[in-house]
This record gives sequence, structure tokens and C-alpha cells, in this order.
Amino acid sequence: MKARENWGSRLGFVMAAAGSAVGLGNIWRFPYTAGENGGGAFLIIYLGIIAIFGVSVLLAEIVLGRATQRNPVGAFGQLGGRIWRPAGLLGVITGFVILSFYVVVAGWTLAYLGLSLAGGLDSTDPDLLGAQFVALSGGIWAPLALAALFMALVGATVGGGITRGIERANRVLMPLLFLLLVGLAVYAMTLPGGGAGVAFLLQPDFSKISGATFTAALAQAFFSLSLGMGCMLTYGSYLRPHERLGVATGAIISLDVVAALLAGLAIMPVVFAFGVSPEAGPGLTFITLPAAFAAMPGGAIVGPAFFLLLSVAALTSAISILEPAISWLTDEHGWSRGRTVWVCASICLALGVPSSLSMGAAPGLQIAGMSFFNAMDFAATNVMMPVGALITAVFVGWFWGQGALEELSNTSGVAPIWARGWLLLLRFVAPPALVLILLQSTGLI
Ligand code: TRP
Repeated sequence: MKARENWGSRLGFVMAAAGSAVGLGNIWRFPYTAGENGGGAFLIIYLGIIAIFGVSVLLAEIVLGRATQRNPVGAFGQLGGRIWRPAGLLGVITGFVILSFYVVVAGWTLAYLGLSLAGGLDSTDPDLLGAQFVALSGGIWAPLALAALFMALVGATVGGGITRGIERANRVLMPLLFLLLVGLAVYAMTLPGGGAGVAFLLQPDFSKISGATFTAALAQAFFSLSLGMGCMLTYGSYLRPHERLGVATGAIISLDVVAALLAGLAIMPVVFAFGVSPEAGPGLTFITLPAAFAAMPGGAIVGPAFFLLLSVAALTSAISILEPAISWLTDEHGWSRGRTVWVCASICLALGVPSSLSMGAAPGLQIAGMSFFNAMDFAATNVMMPVGALITAVFVGWFWGQGALEELSNTSGVAPIWARGWLLLLRFVAPPALVLILLQSTGLI
């Protein structure tokens, strides 16, 4: 077997993992999900879930990768024997499903970056902008070409390898991302009337909390932290075997939470200052915000900055979704990285075609009454990822158990008491909660 690459430094790993975590999930999905689920009340539950489940499962994935120095399939197989290999394979397949619809949204983002730069979004009328969005996303060739362009960017980055491709891209793009995010949030909070947006995000409305709020928060937390498909496992596998993990894990979580909060603080004041609805759902980013950008002073700069931010966030996440499949085929089957990248990117893109077409061009493309796009999103986010996270928690907590504990406390710089607490969470708290959200989100209870 060829020698595997390592990250150039621990900071490089943290940047790459944060790049994976901070994505469309934080900037596009989090604000509207918080909006639909009671704003500040949702936020409290979300933070609690991140602290309990996010930290424990994220650490489980990273330790599993670091200890085995293998891809998801190889990692499960090495510690658990052949019967555990399908657990890793499920992750690889989940990645294909996620990326297939992720590139479609990323393609729209590129389109909106171009449109906002060219002054093509210059309307304050949400109806008009809504029609424009439907025309773009419901088209045939334009969205496909944009998704392909985005996929080519992803492939070119991943093809460069771990240090010279993924790490280098994140080292440049993550500081840019946070700079844009902070700048936009500061500007938004100075808008007259924007304070109501901040209040909406931070003031809890407990009357909006129900069982579904918890499910939504848990799904959002796992999606945002890139858990449940071996993504963080794979990034962890490029760490050197004795790299300390406590601080790195804390940094990844903090950056992800801060990015979501900043995105909320950049978006909600705008929404309120210009009197549009915070519960606008997935269209918030592509319809509601452009209307506000057109109306605000400096919108000609803020608009392109926002869509640049969104494109960068999508890119650093998408490369991490592709990497588990790449590392599996190169580690286990000896494929060259270049060939693997193009094969996997093409498969994802092909799977993205029906997703894109189901947005309007071919409304008949449905599975179980959902558009193909929504079906992929649902299958991945509500079923495959929670299942993957459940398997990871059970595997690390119960099967690897003592070994995981030693791995964490002996060589990772985590105090034994924390390590033991971590194992208890993985054993007794995460599995039942994940089963519960699986039953809830699939409508079984
Ligand atoms: N976390 C990313 C976001 O918030 C998306 C993502 C990257 C992801 N890798 C993942 C989601 C793995 C689930 C699983 O947009």
C-alpha cells in the first residue's frame, strides 16, 4: 500500500474540519430552520444538543480515523472485522447522496454570485425575485451546467491531495469566509430596524417548542457538524497517530457554532429591517435576501459579498463530502487519486441530474410523493446520517469501548475523567436519542 498523506499541521486539520462543518448548513439552512422553529428557543435546544451529542459523536469519528489511519470502510473493518465494513460503506454511499443535491444548491449559489455582480438581481419585489429563482432552478441546462462547474471546482481541489489540495484551499478560504461573515453581521446589525432580527434570533419563544423542534435541532446539528457519514472520520485519519484531540475538537465545534450564529446575525436583521418574513423557508437566501439587498444602501457590495461567502462555504464542505469515497477507493482498491476523483465526481453529478430536473423542469420526478431533490435530502439527512451516527456511537461506545477509552486518554491529551464521560454519552445517551429522532423523522412515531 502507498504511504498515506498527513495534514501539514494540526491547525491545517482544524481549518479543514471547520471548512467541512461550516457550509450551506450554517448559512442557508440554519437561519431558516431557526426561523421556522421559534428563533431563540430553537437556539437553546440546538446549543444543548451540540454540547451533548455533537461533541461526543464528532470526537468518536475523529478518534476512529486517527487510530486506524484508514478510510471509513477500512476503519470499521480493521477494528470490528469484516461484518462491520458495510457500516463504512453506508457512509460512503450517504456522501454520494448528500453531494448530489448539495451541488445543485451550490450551482444556484454560483449563479447568484454572478447575477449579483452583474446587477441582475436589482429588484425589491419578492414576487419578481421569486419568479426569477423559479426560472433558474426550474430550468434544464443552466442549473446542470452550474452544478457541473461547481463539481469541477470540487474535483480540482480534492484531486490536489490532502496538503496541497484540501488543506491549502481551506487555509486560504476559511479566513476569507470568517472575514465576510463578520463584516456582513456587523453591517446588518447597524441597519435601522435590524434590532428586531437580533431579538428574534436570541429571544426564546417557548410556545413554539414541540417534539419536532428537538428532531429539527438534532438533524441540523449533525448536518452542520458533518457527522454520520465518515467525513470527520476520514479527515481524522490524516492526523498523525499521536496528535492531541481535545483542543482541536473544541475549536471545530466553536467555529461551527459561531459561524451559524454570525450567519443568523447577518441575515435576520436584514429580514426584519426590510419587513420580509423570517419563516420564508429555503427560499430565504435566494428570494428574500436579494430583495433586501436591492433596497439597502451598499447593497451592490453586500449582495455579491454574501453570495461569495455562500459559494466559499459550499466549496470547503463539498470537498469533504467527496473525500471519504476517494480515500476508500485509493486505500482499499489501489486506485489513483486522479482517476478516483473524476469517477466519483461524475457519479455524484449524474445522481444530481434528476434532483435538479425535479425542481421544475420535470415535476414528475418524484419518490414517495416528494420531489426527487427533497427525497434525496430526506433520505440522507433524516435517515442515512442518523443511522450512520447511531452505528458510529454504538461501535465506538460498545464494541471498541475500552480501546477507544485508552486511545482517547493515553494519546489524545484528554483527561481520563472527560474520556470516561465521553464513553458514557456514546453508550447510553446518544443511541437512544438517535433512535428517537429516527423514529420521529421517518414518521414512525
Ligand atoms: N456540514 C456541512 C454544512 O453545514 C455539510 C456537510 C459536509 C455534511 N460534510 C458533511 C453534511 C457530511 C453531512 C455529512 O453545510
